[in-house]
Amino acid sequence: MSTIKCIGILTSGGDAPGMNAAIRAVTRSAIYNGMSVKGIYRGYKGLITGEIQEFKTQNVSNIIQRGGTILKTARCMEFKTPQGREQAYNKLIEEEIDALVVIGGDGTLTGARIFAQEFNYPIVGLPGTIDNDLFGTDVTIGYDTALNTIMECVDKIRDTATSHDRLFFIEVMGRDAGFLALNGAIASGAEAAIIPETSLEKDQLAEMIENGFRKSKNSSIVLVAESEITGGAMGIAERTKKEYPQFDVRVTILGHLQRGGSPCAQDRILATRMGVAAIDALLDDQRNVMIGTQNDQIVYVPFSKAIKNDKPINKELLNTLRVSSI
Ligand code: F6P
Repeated sequence: MSTIKCIGILTSGGDAPGMNAAIRAVTRSAIYNGMSVKGIYRGYKGLITGEIQEFKTQNVSNIIQRGGTILKTARCMEFKTPQGREQAYNKLIEEEIDALVVIGGDGTLTGARIFAQEFNYPIVGLPGTIDNDLFGTDVTIGYDTALNTIMECVDKIRDTATSHDRLFFIEVMGRDAGFLALNGAIASGAEAAIIPETSLEKDQLAEMIENGFRKSKNSSIVLVAESEITGGAMGIAERTKKEYPQFDVRVTILGHLQRGGSPCAQDRILATRMGVAAIDALLDDQRNVMIGTQNDQIVYVPFSKAIKNDKPINKELLNTLRVSSI
């Protein structure tokens, strides 16, 4: 029998489409299992300052289709300090919250891991980030919606690139991971992707141009993953202008529009499954794990594994892009 009577739920770090679907599923599953729920606003910041409200099923009505997070989010520096975490713990005791479900990316789970260890406090994490960079789960909540957004944007840029015979470098998010760039390139029929995972191995720009990537085409689109390692789209474009002046180069940085919008069906389903699984995990006495999916099955991934390992890029996809874009 679980001793958990009340759970707290928060979203932290960069928002991702599908976070609301996850909040809805966690809340309803907890209530279904006889627990009460408290929504904590603005991530760890709201936990420290006590921005907390009791959630009933109707608090999460009509949100599955909404982007962003109704709980708001923040990146909290105070939670990185022992004093900040102690304040957060005291607030949890005062509010009689017995366990936490946190939804977010790498930074969120790193904070959760330290806190859980320091106070021996039960936390379950849900991977909510468009970057898809958490180890132990095939996909993260928000990733597929962001990919679809990228695909739609690239389709539009393709029209003008073709009309002018231009070479476009389109920068996408992902922090230091290239999942959005690589799969975004495959989905939108881009000519190449420049990603951090292979930046140190080879000169992707030179390889792309020397392979004659424009042999059969006039316009070209290259997706560039943001990251100091790739140099970003601006860096790559500057280099191209100097070294390959034959190209008429333009840059588009997609930026935060990749984080917005209504979540696609896949993200709504993933978030709902993971939200229900988070409560199942707590009932099952699981502690300090992230919910993941592997081969479409729910798995529990210890925080230490989820955040410490660099999730590898599937190398087969590099070949898929190369072959399909000749
Ligand atoms: O982690 C999600 C993400 O969107 C990254 O892809 C990006 O580098 C970062 O957050 C941007 O953060 P902010 O919204 O704080 O500028």
